[in-house]
Amino acid sequence: MNGRETPSKRFVIRGGRVIDPARNFDRTEDIGVDGDRISAASESDAAPAAGEIDARGLIVCPGLIDMHVHLREPGAEHKETIETGTGAAVAGGFTAVACMPNTKPAIDNIATLQHVIERARQIGVCRVHPIGAITVNRQGTEVVDMTALKQHGAVAFSDDGDGVENDSVMREAFARARERDAAIIQHCEYKAISAGGVMHKGRVSDALGLPGLDPRSEEDMIERDIALVRETGARYHVAHISTARAVELVRRAKADGLPVTTEVCPHHLLLTDDACSEQDPNTKMHPPLRTAEDVAACRRGFLDGTIDCIATDHAPHTAEEKARGFLKAPPGIVGLETALALTCEALSEDGSIDWCGLIRSMTVAPASVLGVTTPSLTPTAPADITLIDPRKSWRIAPETFHGKTRNTPFGGRDVVGRAVATIVGGRLRHQLADEAHRFERLSPIN
Ligand code: DOR
Ligand code: ZN
Repeated sequence: MNGRETPSKRFVIRGGRVIDPARNFDRTEDIGVDGDRISAASESDAAPAAGEIDARGLIVCPGLIDMHVHLREPGAEHKETIETGTGAAVAGGFTAVACMPNTKPAIDNIATLQHVIERARQIGVCRVHPIGAITVNRQGTEVVDMTALKQHGAVAFSDDGDGVENDSVMREAFARARERDAAIIQHCEYKAISAGGVMHKGRVSDALGLPGLDPRSEEDMIERDIALVRETGARYHVAHISTARAVELVRRAKADGLPVTTEVCPHHLLLTDDACSEQDPNTKMHPPLRTAEDVAACRRGFLDGTIDCIATDHAPHTAEEKARGFLKAPPGIVGLETALALTCEALSEDGSIDWCGLIRSMTVAPASVLGVTTPSLTPTAPADITLIDPRKSWRIAPETFHGKTRNTPFGGRDVVGRAVATIVGGRLRHQLADEAHRFERLSPIN
C-alpha cells in the first residue's frame, strides 16, 4: 500500500459459533475481514486499528441468499424498488437475492437486464442476481436468446408467475439451457387447470364457496418437465413447491439421478388453507396454502434432502391492491424480513434446529442452483457474512419493514431467531439497533 491509499478496513468477528456448510464446519472461531474479503483472524487481529464485532452467543455464517425475490423494478416501483427490496433483504440477513423477471418490461432483453444490474450496483446494498425470462415477454411462445442474456449476467431462466405450458417451447428451452449450463426455474402451474382459482381447491374452498386451485395444475407440470429433463439433461429447479405429490415427484427424479432441485417457502412449511378462512388477502398467494398433509410432506421433504433450498417468493403488493378483497387481490406475500425466523419455527423439532442444514439451504444450495460463487467463510472468499441470534425473541411488526409493502399473514406473530448483522463485501449493511453494544469497537469506516 502506498501512502496515498486509504487503509483497507479490517475487523475481527470474535467468539461466534461459525457455521460454514461448504466445509461442514461448526465450531467457535474468530473470523477476520480485510477489505472486501475474509482473512485469517490472526492477520486482521495483528493489523493496527482493527475493529471488532462481539459475536458471542451468535451464529456466524456465510451471507444468506434468497433465490426467489420480486424486486418489481422496472415497472412496478409503487410495490417495491431495487433500493427498498435490497434494504429488506439485508434486514432479513440476506447478502444476495436472485430477482424474478416478471417486471415491466420483462427481463427478456439485454437493456432491461443491464438496467437491473446497473441499478443494483449503484445502490450497492446487497448482491442482485437477475433471472432472465424463459420466453419473450413471458408469453410462453418464443424462447429468449439465452446465450446473450447469460453472457450479460442472467444467472438462470424463469417465467415465474406463469409456467411454460407448451411442450415444444419447453423442450426447446430445456435444450438451450442445457447448452449454457443454466438452470430452468419453473413456476409449475397449468392455467387451464388452475384458472380462476383463488385458493387451494379442497375442503376449505368448498366451505367458503371460493373457486379452488387444483393441486394437479402444479403436479402435472412437474411431471411433464421431469420427462423433458430425462430427454434433454437440463438442470431443472421447481419453484415454490407446495404439494405432497410434487415433493414425491422430485424425490423420485433425484433417486433416478436427474439434475432436479427444488425450493420451499416458509409459508408453505407453516400455514394450511385453514388460514384462508377469514378471507384475508394476505393469505392469498400462488401456489396457495395447501393442506396439513402437504405441509407435513414439505417439512419431511426438507428434512430428508428432497427439498434443497428455502426461498421466500417475496412478492410485494400495496395495501390498496390487497384491499380489493380475497377474490380480486393480487396473489403474493412479502418474505425477506421474516424468512429466517419462520424457517426456524417450521424446522425446529422438539425445540432443536439443525442449523448447519438450515444455513446450507439458504447459502450453498441456492448458490449451486444459480451457479454463483459458493458462499464460504474461508480466507480470500468474499466477505459476505450473516450474524444470527438463534435465541432472539421478537414480534413480527409489518409497520417496521424496510420493504415498501406490508402484505404478510404473519403480522403480530411471536418468533425466535433474527439476523443481528449483515455484512456484504466487508461492509456492514444491517445491524440490529438493540444489539448496538456488539458493534462499539467497530471503526466508523465500516
Ligand atoms: O403469489 C405469487 N406472486 N406467486 C407468483 O408466482 C408471482 C408472485 C408475484 O409476482 O406477485
Ligand atoms: Zn411463482
